[in-house]
Parts: sequence; structure tokens; C-alpha cells
Amino acid sequence: MEGRRLSNRDTVVIARELLPAGDDLLAERFEIRRGGLDASRQQLLTLAPGADALVTDLTVPVGDELLDACGEGLRIVANFAVGYDNIDLQTCRRRGIAVTNTPDALTNATAELAVTLTLAAARRLTDAERTVRDGRWTGWAPGDFRGIELSGATVGIVGLGRIGSRYGELLRGFSARLLYTSRSPKPEGEALGAERVGLHELLEAADVVSLHAPGSPETHHMIGREELDLIGPQGVLVNTARGTLVDTDALVAALADGRLGAAGLDVFEGEPEAPPELLAAPRLTLAPHMGSATFTARDAMARMVAEDVIAVLEGREPAHRVA
Ligand code: DGY
Repeated sequence: MEGRRLSNRDTVVIARELLPAGDDLLAERFEIRRGGLDASRQQLLTLAPGADALVTDLTVPVGDELLDACGEGLRIVANFAVGYDNIDLQTCRRRGIAVTNTPDALTNATAELAVTLTLAAARRLTDAERTVRDGRWTGWAPGDFRGIELSGATVGIVGLGRIGSRYGELLRGFSARLLYTSRSPKPEGEALGAERVGLHELLEAADVVSLHAPGSPETHHMIGREELDLIGPQGVLVNTARGTLVDTDALVAALADGRLGAAGLDVFEGEPEAPPELLAAPRLTLAPHMGSATFTARDAMARMVAEDVIAVLEGREPAHRVA
């Protein structure tokens, strides 16, 4: 659809898709233009002119190009995600455009997926399942598929925000000892009985390392060859945060050489395209960025997006402003 105003109602451009829990709320009040999941960048730029609000998700880069296409009436970019590394916040601030995200709604879902990947990687579940499905299993053997137990393990949480803290709470149920990194001591850390240490100390001490830091230039490739070697041949790396945190080539090499025990990734660089070396890596459980994919979380996220759009278009402060 061409981007042109159809009535006096404000126009909301949904770059891709907003689930009905949010879309219905917006459609009652505003003109809606939807790009759909397959919209190309060019189609989105054609749809954008005249937008009063823009609904994006983590796959939609938001910077000068898209903001220019929306035009001067744009008042809010509402991101259907808690992470907002797809958005140039400074540019939005400079232009006086509010930016919102969806915190809390996906905390349980993402932390639970991190636990799922932790267990799957720790117990070599993907390799084990492949062996059975491929007809390669020749029967029970004492040395096969040995992994590590979480009971009594040291678990390092990199980034003790909402999701990292919830992951820590869940891991406490396995009687794991918890370490965490963060810029400053966190009350959540004390509540969890977790010790704050530096990154390298954490990597060296932990049997399991779970990443919960945001994607940013500072965290880009924070886990590379040296860090993977510190986690070590028995250690497990879990990433449910952003693919950019881990150097994929270094990870593939560490798994292939046996320098890293196992990994569980919900996110990886360049997703959705997974390089063949990653797909072939041993002791790796790979998921398609599905941390928040529960009915509860995704509906709550959609509602949050809609409520923040409604707030801004009605002249109120949005509840989840990040810029
Ligand atoms: C987020 O919200 O940032 C997740 O990556 C997707 O739900």
C-alpha cells in the first residue's frame, strides 16, 4: 500500500506484524498500515510516509533513512522487543521522537528458555537426539553423551538485569553457585546469594556461562577465543541475548577443537542465516531466537506496544520509554 493519509485519524505504520492483542487495540483508534512479515525494506519505505507512530521489531533497523521516510509527523517508534539495538536512539532523541520497548513481559519466557538451553547443552541433548534420529545409536554405552550436572555447578551470569536475575532464581533451584558481572553491585545479586566478579574471573570459575547483556558496540564480540578458552573444555556457554555478543568463528573453532564443552544459542550473528560451520558444530544446541515465544509473553509485548503508541498519540507519557 502507498503511504498516504486516508482520514483524520492518526496513522500507525506497523513495519511487519503486531499480534492481535496489540493490533486490535490500535485498529480501534487509528488508521493502520501493515508491512507484513515479508515486506522488503523498499516496501516499508513506501509505506512509511505520513506515519504518526511506527511499530518495529528487532529485525527492523531504525535510523535516518526510515525516519526521513516517515516524515516530520512521527511521534513514536514502539519496538516489539525489550532490546533496542536496532534503533538509533540518538537520532530519535535529536528528532524528538519517543522510543519504547517491552520490558518485563518476556522476562520469565526468556529466562526459562535460557534454562532450557543450559540443560540441553549441559547434557548434549542435540547431539544425542541427532544420533537417535539418524539411526546411528547402537545402544547404551557407559561413556556416551556425558555432560555436566547443574547441581553444585558454578553458574556465571553476564549481566544481572531482569532476565539474568530471573535465570539466577531458576538456577538456584538446581543448587548452583551463582556469580555475576555488572557495572555496579546489584541488590538482586545479594538477594540471589550471587557473588559479583570481573568477566574473566567469572569465565574461569564458571561451569556454565549465560549471557544477558544488551547488544551494543561495547558488548560486540565480548566472547571471543580468549574468553571461550577460559570457559574451557567442560564449560557451557548459553546466549539468549544478542548474537553479536559472541564471535561465531571463534565459537565454531572452540567447539570443533574441544576447547569449549558445549553451547546453547537462541541468537547468533547474521540470523536468520546460520553459516554451515555453525550448523555442523558439535555439542551445540541452536534455537531460532525464540526466547520470548510464549503465548503469555508475546501477547503482553503486543499490548505494551499498543498502549505506548496510544499514550503518545493521545498526548500522554508512554510507560516504557527508552528515549
Ligand atoms: C527481545 O525482546 O529483545 C528479544 O530478543 C525478542 O523478544
